[in-house]
Amino acid sequence: MFIRYKKLLSVIAFLELCGCSIDQTQTDKKEPLSLNDAILTNNLTAETKQTNHKKRIGILTSGGDCSGLNAIIYAAYKKAKAFGYEMIGFKYGVHGVVHNQYIVLDDTICNSDILQKSGTILKSNTKVLLGENGKILNKEESDKEIIKRYHAMQLDGLIYVGGNGSIGAIKNILKKDPSLRIIGVPKTIDNDIAYTDEAVGFATVSEVVSNAIENIISTAQSHERVFVVEVMGRDAGCIALISGIATGADVILIPEKKYKWDNLVRKVKRSYDEKKYAIVVVSESVESEEMKHKSCQLSDVLLRKEYGGIASVIANKLKKSGFDAKAVTLGHIQRGGRTAVADRLLGQKFGAEAVKLINNHDKSGLLGYQNDRIVKTNMNDIVSTTRSLKATDEDILLANSLGIYVGE
Ligand code: F6P
Repeated sequence: MFIRYKKLLSVIAFLELCGCSIDQTQTDKKEPLSLNDAILTNNLTAETKQTNHKKRIGILTSGGDCSGLNAIIYAAYKKAKAFGYEMIGFKYGVHGVVHNQYIVLDDTICNSDILQKSGTILKSNTKVLLGENGKILNKEESDKEIIKRYHAMQLDGLIYVGGNGSIGAIKNILKKDPSLRIIGVPKTIDNDIAYTDEAVGFATVSEVVSNAIENIISTAQSHERVFVVEVMGRDAGCIALISGIATGADVILIPEKKYKWDNLVRKVKRSYDEKKYAIVVVSESVESEEMKHKSCQLSDVLLRKEYGGIASVIANKLKKSGFDAKAVTLGHIQRGGRTAVADRLLGQKFGAEAVKLINNHDKSGLLGYQNDRIVKTNMNDIVSTTRSLKATDEDILLANSLGIYVGE
C-alpha cells in the first residue's frame, strides 16, 4: 500500500515537472518527492519517460554578480522559448542545482525590464556549498550531485554563467560524465577569463569606476589634493588599467607589474607640480612593503586571499612625503550601476548562442568574444582558465606612451 502511494506521488512529481506551470511560489521549497524518485527508482516505464520528455534547458549564474547577467538570462530564455524549450533558472548558482531550487522562467520574469538591471534575477551565492545534512560538500560530492540532478531533470543542456573558477568546475563535471552538455558563459568584472577578450560585466564596471574617478577628480582639483583610488579586480589589473587610462590618471598600479616607491612619488610630484592635483588608481591586490595580503580560511576546503586596504597604505605614505593625500576605496558600488549597452549586447549574444549550441547538440564548451566575434572553445581544448595582463599588451603600452606610471 505504502509503495503504491509512493509510486503515485512520484508520478505526480514527475508530471508536475514536465508541465509548464510549476507554481512560482513553490519553487524555492524542496519538492516533496523529487524527479529523482520518479526516474531513479524507475517507477515510470521507458515509454512514459520518452513521451513525457519536455525539452528543457537549465541556466545558472555562479559566483559574484556583475552587470549583464540578466541580459544573458533574457536572451537565453527568448531563444529557448523560440526553439520550444522550457527554461529552468537555478537559484543561487550551483547551490540551486544541488538543492533543487529553481524557477521556471516565463515572460513575466524574463522581460526587457531586466536588461538594464545589474545583479542577477537568479541570485548569487559565493559561500561554500552545503549538502543535505548541512555539511560542506567537497568538489567530488558536488559534481556528483550536479550530474545526478542534470539527469533527473532531463536537461538537454546547462548554461553555466561564471568566472574562471567555473571553467575548472565545468571541466571536472564533464570528466566524470561527458554526456552532459554544458556551455560556459564568461562573466566577471575582473575580466580575467581565458579564451575571451572581454567578459560580461567589464564594460559596465569600467563605466562605473571611470565615473567615480571623475567625481573624485573635481574635488581633487578644488582642494589641490592627491587621491589614491582603490578598485576591485582580485588578481587582475584590468579595471584599474582601463578606468585609469579613461580618466587620465597619473599612476596606475596593477598586480601584474611591480612598482618602485621612489618612481611612484617622482611621478606624483611631477603631476602635482603641473596641475595641482594627482590621481593614483590602485588595484586591490597590489601589495606594498608594509602590507602583504593574507589568506583567510572560509571553510575546510576553501582558502581565499583577503584584499583591501592598499589605498590607505599608499595615501598615508604619500602624506609622509608631504602630500595632502586621501584614500578612497570604491568597494561594491563597482558591482552595480545601469548595465552598459556593450554588456547588454555581449550578454545577449552569449545567451542566444549558448541556446543555439545546445539546440544543435554541439559539444560542451566555453563561449568567448575574440576579434569582434562570438566563438566557442571546446572544453577538451581548454588548458588554462585565467587571462592576465602582460607588459606587451596594447593598453599597457598605451598607458606608458601617455606618461602614466604603470610600474616597472
Ligand atoms: O571577482 C569579482 C569581485 O568583485 C572581485 O573583484 C572582488 O575582489 C570580489 O569579487 C569581492 O567579492 P565579495 O563580493 O565576495 O566581497
